[in-house]
Amino acid sequence: MISWLSDPGFLAGLFAGAAATLVILVGSISFLILSRDHYGLDHWKLNVQLPVRSMWMNMGYWRSSEEFPQACRAYLHQILATADILTGPDSLRSIAILDVGIGCGDQTRAVIESIGSQSPRLPASLAYVGITINQTQQRLALRKWHSEPVKSRSGGMKLDSFHLFCADASKPHAWSEEIQSALNKFNEPKQCTRKWLLASDCLYHFSPSRQPIWQHAARNLGMNFMGSDLCLSETATLRQTIVARVIGVLMGCPWNAFLTEEDYREQLVASGFERASIIINDISDDVFPGLVAFLEKQDKALAESGISLGPGFRLARRVFGWFAASSVIKAVTVVAKLPKSKDD
Ligand SMILES: *[C@@H]1O[C@H](CO)[C@@H](O)[C@H](O)[C@H]1NC(C)=O
Repeated sequence: MISWLSDPGFLAGLFAGAAATLVILVGSISFLILSRDHYGLDHWKLNVQLPVRSMWMNMGYWRSSEEFPQACRAYLHQILATADILTGPDSLRSIAILDVGIGCGDQTRAVIESIGSQSPRLPASLAYVGITINQTQQRLALRKWHSEPVKSRSGGMKLDSFHLFCADASKPHAWSEEIQSALNKFNEPKQCTRKWLLASDCLYHFSPSRQPIWQHAARNLGMNFMGSDLCLSETATLRQTIVARVIGVLMGCPWNAFLTEEDYREQLVASGFERASIIINDISDDVFPGLVAFLEKQDKALAESGISLGPGFRLARRVFGWFAASSVIKAVTVVAKLPKSKDD
C-alpha cells in the first residue's frame, strides 16, 4: 500500500478540492442556463445567414432606393455618371481604375459590373486596383471576388488585371513595391487607356489631406479623378464651421477635412488637375434626408427583432440630420481631369 493514500489529511484535501470544483462547475452552468434568455430574441444570431450578402458602406443615393445596398450602388453610379464613364467616349476605350477606400468588395464588384454591362459600348479591357486600409475588409473583399466567376461579371470586356491591397491610400509614398508594380502595369499595354483614380465617400478621412493621393494620381500615375466627398457650405457661419469641424474630428477626419467648393477646386488645381475640367455636383438633397430616414427605419426594424442599431449609427443619424437641416455640409460628386496635353 502506498503510504500517502492512507494519509487522512491527503484524502480530506482531495475530497474538499473535488467538492469545491463541483460546486463551481454546477454554479457556473446554472448561471449560464438561467441567465440565457430562452423566450427572447437572442437566437437571431443563430439564424443570420452568413456571410452577409452585402457589406456596402457609403451614404447612399436615395432618390429611388429604399434599401441600403441599392442606395449605395446608386451613389456609386452618381460618381460614374458625373465622370461620364458609362455613356461617354471613355466607354469605347480600355480603362484602368485605381479605387481607394473600397470597403468589403461590393464597390469593386459594382464598378466592374457597371462598366462591363455597357454593351455594346463595352471598353475593350479593364484593369483594376483596389485599396482598403483594413485587412479584415481586404480579406472579405478577396473572398467575395473569388467566390464568383469573373466572366459573368465583366461580359465581353477583358479584365486585364485585378488586385486588392491593404494600405493607407492617403500615404502613396509609403505604398509597397507590390502596389507600385501593379499600378505600373497600367502604363504598359495601350496608350489609349483612360486612367482614373476613384474615391467614393472616403477622402474626408485622408490625413493630413487629400493632396498626396491627388498629386500622386495626377503627376505620377497620369490619372483623372472621380469621387464623392463632403464640402463645407460657403454660407456657413463661424460657429457652424467649428461645429462641423468638431464633428469631423469625432468621425476620425483631420481638422481641415471640410473645404468650401472654392478651396476644394484650388487644391485640385494645385495637385495637377485642370481647373476648367473640374465638376462639383451637389447631391445633398438625395443623400442626407434619405439616409436619415433609412437609419430611423432600420433602428425600428432592428428593435422589433431585439437588435440595437448601436450608439455610433444613432449619433450618425443626428449628424446627418443636422447636415440636411442646416446645409452646412454638402454631399458632392467630383470630377477633375488632367490638362489635355498630358491626357492624350
Ligand atoms: C479592421 O476591422 C476589424 C473589424 O471591424 C476591426 O476589428 C479591426 O480592428 C480593424 N483593423 C484596423 C487596423 O483598423
